[in-house]
Amino acid sequence: MMSSVDGKILSANWKDEELTNTFAGYFEKYHVTFTSQAWMCGRITMERDFSGGVQPELQPAPHPIPREPFIGDPNATSFAVAVDAHGKLGWDSNQTHGDHIIEVLTEQVSDEYLHYLQRKRISYLFAGQSEVDFTSVLEQLAALFPIQTLMLEGGGHLNGSLLNAGLIDELSLLVLPLADGTPKSPTTFEVSEYLPKGPATRLYLTKVEQLDNDVIWLKYRFERS
Ligand SMILES: NC(=O)c1ccc[n+]([C@@H]2O[C@H](COP(=O)([O-])OP(=O)(O)OC[C@H]3O[C@@H](n4cnc5c(N)ncnc54)[C@H](OP(=O)(O)O)[C@@H]3O)[C@@H](O)[C@H]2O)c1
Repeated sequence: MMSSVDGKILSANWKDEELTNTFAGYFEKYHVTFTSQAWMCGRITMERDFSGGVQPELQPAPHPIPREPFIGDPNATSFAVAVDAHGKLGWDSNQTHGDHIIEVLTEQVSDEYLHYLQRKRISYLFAGQSEVDFTSVLEQLAALFPIQTLMLEGGGHLNGSLLNAGLIDELSLLVLPLADGTPKSPTTFEVSEYLPKGPATRLYLTKVEQLDNDVIWLKYRFERS
């Protein structure tokens, strides 16, 4: 993740394209230093930054579709995981940035949407009736796909959900030399009001590095090693 010094993560609010592109370059540069077979984003980040806001083309399903996992590409080795509890995202293909898409759904999603994903050969799994159970998500990702390490890539609400569930091992954060101040704008960790909020989490610093342009790269473990 990258954030302003006040923890804000929406680069659209920084209103300086050149500066934002410079910082995004750091994000990409350090992002590739991590080894993972999959990355995961919330529905809003996927819609704004990856799917291009494509709308799903829904058609009636020819028969009832069981709430069972669907593997769209059994040969895929790298994955983009979209947390889309209500089945809202549309996609041009079953890949984004070269990675096979896995949709994380709840069982309330319509048969029409499941039929759409099957036609597109997009993988999906179910984790909960109406609310996402992230322990189940991680267990299924490891059992159904060749995924041992997952990179959580925001936005703030998805990060907050996994934080609250105690499922994060490590944080890598680029602190940008920006004071944002935008009210009601997401920060690195946002726990939605519908979730029970646990206590603050103590982190253990493993790296601090000053980069060019006054950017600081911090890494923390969530448990003392
Ligand atoms: N600075 C950075 O490093 C960075 C990194 C990533 C993203 N971003 C930015 O962050 C912004 C989006 O952040 P955001 O916090 O608003 O949204 P987000 O975390 O990307 O997505 C939130 C959505 O994901 C789904 N979701 C998350 N937790 C869930 C849960 N526990 N159960 C069910 N569904 C859950 C919900 O979708 P539904 O609404 O469909 O239920 C929720 O509205 C984007 O503008 C993106 O560009 C910045």
